[in-house]
Amino acid sequence: MNSSSPIGVFDSGIGGLTVVRALMERLPFENIVYFGDTARVPYGVKSVETISHFTTQIAQFLLEKEVKLLIIACNTMAAVAAQVVRDLSPVPVLDVIDAGALAAKNGKRIGVIGTPTTINSNAYARAIHDYAPESRIHSQACALFVPLVEEGWLEHEVTRLTAKEYLRPLLAERIDTLVLGCTHYPLLKPLLHEVAGKNVSLVDSAEAMAEQAAQVLNEKGLANTSSTPPRYDFHVTDVPLRFQTIGERFLGRTLSNVHVVKW
Ligand code: DGL
Repeated sequence: MNSSSPIGVFDSGIGGLTVVRALMERLPFENIVYFGDTARVPYGVKSVETISHFTTQIAQFLLEKEVKLLIIACNTMAAVAAQVVRDLSPVPVLDVIDAGALAAKNGKRIGVIGTPTTINSNAYARAIHDYAPESRIHSQACALFVPLVEEGWLEHEVTRLTAKEYLRPLLAERIDTLVLGCTHYPLLKPLLHEVAGKNVSLVDSAEAMAEQAAQVLNEKGLANTSSTPPRYDFHVTDVPLRFQTIGERFLGRTLSNVHVVKW
């Protein structure tokens, strides 16, 4: 393992490509190897035990690829299994919840939205309290957002009504900050911005993650010094219907070098 080794990024499916996209923009010379468990997604409604088991399997797969850094792009895995990964990894491990919590630390009244498993775990509230003990946190599970985003209904009236319904209790608490605690939500940013209003600042945990990764690579002397075009590899456990279209929507560019892993 050295500075030209890839960064390993993983998620329950293709949603974590929002994190890859942010990494590609912030760290354009880093090689990236991605793992998306497309055969077993969604994780957001599964039990802690099952998620921990799947997470271990994926982390081991990426460590065999000799990654220099592991990034848990999935908020649900970060919420319930981050420690499992830290315990087994010889390389640094970063997770989107820690990055999102740090980016939200200046908020006074902070809203957090995520999958039911993420919200039930209370992981965001704990992480935010570590950085901002005085802040008040209000959380809301938004189970319908993942399928709406995968359907591509990013500006659809149904999505707008759903967002109004989910955000109502948070807005009633007069939140000043809203943490997008799920891989899929960065795609809803324009709509959420409109529904939440201009007084609420949105924290995109994918962007926060890329910023934290850049800092850690510099601190540890692990940033890739070569300026040759990087290599991107994508490993998935299934190629479901509309994989290419949805994947490219998340990544914001053509998705190639896709390898199917049969487990
Ligand atoms: N990647 C998951 C997350 O960020 C969303 C999709 C799922 O439920 O697996 O929470």
